[in-house]
Amino acid sequence: MDLGIKGKNTLIVGASKGIGRNIATAFAKEGARLTVIARSEDLLKDLIEEISQYNDLDHKYYVADLMEENPNELAKKWLEERGVFDIVVHNVGGSLVSRNALGTIEEWTHAWMFNAGLAIDMNNVLIQPMIDKGWGRVVHISSISAKMLRGNPLYASSKAFLNAYVTTVGRTVAPTGVVMSAVMPGAVAFEGSYWDNFTRTDPARCEDFLRHHQAVNRFGTTQEIADAVLFMASEQASFMQSALIPVDGANM
Ligand SMILES: NC(=O)c1ccc[n+]([C@@H]2O[C@H](COP(=O)([O-])OP(=O)(O)OC[C@H]3O[C@@H](n4cnc5c(N)ncnc54)[C@H](OP(=O)(O)O)[C@@H]3O)[C@@H](O)[C@H]2O)c1
Repeated sequence: MDLGIKGKNTLIVGASKGIGRNIATAFAKEGARLTVIARSEDLLKDLIEEISQYNDLDHKYYVADLMEENPNELAKKWLEERGVFDIVVHNVGGSLVSRNALGTIEEWTHAWMFNAGLAIDMNNVLIQPMIDKGWGRVVHISSISAKMLRGNPLYASSKAFLNAYVTTVGRTVAPTGVVMSAVMPGAVAFEGSYWDNFTRTDPARCEDFLRHHQAVNRFGTTQEIADAVLFMASEQASFMQSALIPVDGANM
């Protein structure tokens, strides 16, 4: 299937490792022109080297700590230097925030900013030019925790907010040609990840977790998430406005 991604000006926020890195390589293999963002310059350099083997468009990386710098101003700069993006993937986020359900507003704000606010602040700049052009795809990496509402309360609540944002804002932009969506991974393991470490340090608890919470009884792979993101960024996703897609091995 031709996904129509070849040559598309694509921004991937949080691309240096894990799910985001696999999303970046998957888009490069489809012929996209990539702008990739993260804090680790060495990993971003390595990524650019890898994706340049898949196509020779002028890929570029920017080093940024989005929790320390101003995401709105950064998005303006990337837009000025790289042109209007056709596709944006918001991948930054994670559960390694406070787990204190009765935590301070600062703890809650931090978790919300990491998992939802950053993307919202960048979309303020990135989406209007897509609307003006009449075509765009904005894919957010949420989590199945947003639906199951289990585990870390601050993480699950932040991702649930993100899902509500995608649903409601997606409806608002629906007539414009811009499709907003979220992919909700279940537990995904890759080298150096939380789950990878968990498997090593406590294999018995890990097996127990999989048996009880992920019906396929294994972790997902970064490729399985990247494939869903590719589809949500494709021409074929034109009627999938506001879709919240679980890719979770039947989480339970
Ligand atoms: N892995 C899972 O099991 C799983 C399950 C459900 C949902 N998810 C979601 O999937 C997304 C990716 O998860 P992952 O496990 O692949 O996470 P990860 O390994 O921590 O990768 C996150 C990416 O974001 C970048 N990043 C983190 N903080 C940043 C900051 N302040 N400024 C700029 N870039 C930053 C990281 O690069 P640098 O460190 O180089 O900055 C990295 O490229 C997250 O939104 C997560 O909530 C993951």
